Amino acid sequence: MIAVKDVSYTYMTGTPFEKTALKNISFDVAEGEVLAIAGHTGSGKSTLIQIIAGLIKLTSGTIELDDLDVADKKIRRLVGIVFQYPEHQLFEETVESDIAFGPKNFGLSDEEISARVEEAMRQVGLSAELKKVSPFELSGGQRRRVAIAGILALKPKYLILDEPTAGLDPLAKENLLKEIFGAVKKSGVTIILVSHNMEDIARFANRVVVLAQGEILFIGKPRELFARKEILSRAGLEPPPITQLLHSLKIDEQALTLDEAEKIILSKERNLS
Ligand SMILES: Nc1ncnc2c1ncn2[C@@H]1O[C@H](COP(=O)(O)OP(=O)(O)O)[C@@H](O)[C@H]1O
Ligand SMILES: [Mg+2]
Repeated sequence: MIAVKDVSYTYMTGTPFEKTALKNISFDVAEGEVLAIAGHTGSGKSTLIQIIAGLIKLTSGTIELDDLDVADKKIRRLVGIVFQYPEHQLFEETVESDIAFGPKNFGLSDEEISARVEEAMRQVGLSAELKKVSPFELSGGQRRRVAIAGILALKPKYLILDEPTAGLDPLAKENLLKEIFGAVKKSGVTIILVSHNMEDIARFANRVVVLAQGEILFIGKPRELFARKEILSRAGLEPPPITQLLHSLKIDEQALTLDEAEKIILSKERNLS
């Protein structure tokens, strides 16, 4: 479990550029859940996850991961973080060596490393034939998969993804999370998904934390959030298009996915005829 208690954070304290990015943030992440963090640009999402991963030093409040303090170096092995546009950090000559880079630094055996590379490639839906290919010959969506595979190969217990579908074309977007979450969740990994894509949140998150100007506006189920118009508008977020469509058709029920909407609309039609 991850327990975040009363965390505040200010950049460049004591300078004219001082900026408070987080104010009194508290929440827990349960084992095996997908917790989304949503909010407008600048609301503090990236700062928060970097503090949880131990990459920004905590200055106020406490964070514990499995009873370890976030300052404890042991948490480095527990947490895997995929930054925004992670493909910009690919640098090895082949897909295989890029994915193997982290596990090598863990001092694992060659066999273990190659088993992990293969498993991670499967998890992100990359064909094994791509192992010897240069990442720079791949499409943007595939490069992103390579970068994510490099983190999965570390087998983190907690996986943090910062806007993993940002900037991908719709098709690449559609499949990326479905595949990764399908594969990764089976292994019991706990996921923190930073996103302002409400469709992704509706489909994959158990709960969502909404941030606005460094404060928590809402914690709860995506379904509850999409019914709270005032919170969405204060946070600068919109419900998924399909949820909005049913609403503008003056249908009371809430649909988060196309499948749900179809069922609701078909049942209305039946009632009418
Ligand atoms: N390295 C930094 N130095 C100073 N201010 C920063 C830095 N990184 C982020 N900020 C500021 O902190 C606030 C939160 O930023 P960030 O955590 O990146 O938000 P988000 O990921 O939600 O877009 C913003 O006002 C941003 O300008
Ligand atoms: Mg960010």
